[in-house]
Amino acid sequence: MNTVLLMLSLIATAQGLRCMTCENARSHEDCDSQGVMRECLENELSCAIEERKVNYGPGRLIFKHCKQPLACNNNYIQNDRPAWWPIQCNDKFPNSVCRCCCFEDECNIGHERCFGKAAISCGNQEDVRGGITTCSDGNRFRSKCDFQCQAPAQIYPPDSSSSVCLEDGSWSKPAPCCANPCPALAVVDLVIILDSSSSVGEAGWQTLLSFTRSLLSLYTLGNNSVEVAVVRYNAEVDTDNIIPLDNGFNRDELFAAISSLPYDGSGTRTGNAINFTREFILENGHGHREFAHDLVVVLTDGRSQDDVAVPARLLRERGVMTYAIGIRPDQAPDNFDIRNDLLNIAGSEDHFFVVEDGFSRLNADFAEEITREICSDPCGLTPHL
Ligand SMILES: *[C@@H]1O[C@H](CO)[C@@H](O)[C@H](O)[C@H]1NC(C)=O
Ligand SMILES: *[C@@H]1O[C@H](CO)[C@@H](O)[C@H](O)[C@H]1NC(C)=O
Repeated sequence: MNTVLLMLSLIATAQGLRCMTCENARSHEDCDSQGVMRECLENELSCAIEERKVNYGPGRLIFKHCKQPLACNNNYIQNDRPAWWPIQCNDKFPNSVCRCCCFEDECNIGHERCFGKAAISCGNQEDVRGGITTCSDGNRFRSKCDFQCQAPAQIYPPDSSSSVCLEDGSWSKPAPCCANPCPALAVVDLVIILDSSSSVGEAGWQTLLSFTRSLLSLYTLGNNSVEVAVVRYNAEVDTDNIIPLDNGFNRDELFAAISSLPYDGSGTRTGNAINFTREFILENGHGHREFAHDLVVVLTDGRSQDDVAVPARLLRERGVMTYAIGIRPDQAPDNFDIRNDLLNIAGSEDHFFVVEDGFSRLNADFAEEITREICSDPCGLTPHL
């Protein structure tokens, strides 16, 4: 009994593949209804479909048969290849021929199995910015593109090192970028503008300086990462104590230079200080690096006595990212509002911060919060090419 069953199943698997066969059919339906279902020869292990577009008419001729897989595959890979003769499976040309094969019984009935998906193309995948993109099969269905970056740059967003051409003709992920780890290695010319007007107070000034050091301690300083300039101002810019971008200081020297910035004077001409930053600090010849992104952070405790909107806009028009940190003094009257100035300096709601309870909250955590904001788009902080 068992032997009989076994023999039957052996006979069943020994049977050839069954494929639809037809010649010169006008449509898949005609072929499938009038063609002959054939059992293929032993070496014909695939079913083939061939669509021939004849001249310029809408017409197409359909051929279906059994085929040797090797021959079938050779034909298939000639479909719609960029380097291939354009009439291979290209609807725009007369005499185009599309071919494909499949490997299961009756799989060449209809056309979806072959041309539905084989015809899908996702459009060229963009290259990863600053890295290398390699795709397994160009922009065709199921092609997988891998993105690689050169260290220390990393793929960003982190989970996007590859992308696949999907059935709906879209890539599973947009091309990422190669970004330096932020904040440590962001390639940034960072200018810190410090308000040292009389309302800040000696204690407040010390808080501003230590906050500046906390912020800077999150970055790696150097020509391949962050260069820092510090500008102190009140009614005027303190041009005797500028720390320019090309200060040449190591970290300790920079921190010492910041710590010894004097505190004196009165007046709050923030617009003037921002103009000075544009006209001097970020001007060529003072350490400004063309390939770096420019970031200006203004720390102030008050309303400016001059216009900040135009100076800040002129900075942004040069591609500078602007941030503002406002410290609302402890004793400030209720109607004291610096938000309008901060918004004008920063240019958008998410680029300014108000520290409500005076200088006490201006601590290291706050430096990290700002850095998170600055690093929210690491792709934007890769070197300009
Ligand atoms: C800074 O880096 C740039 C770009 O890599 C390079 O051209 C330049 O010579 C470097 N400058 C210094 C002072 O190392
Ligand atoms: C800043 O510079 C611009 C352009 O030179 C000028 O129009 C504007 O008045 C200046 N603003 C201040 C506050 O100095």
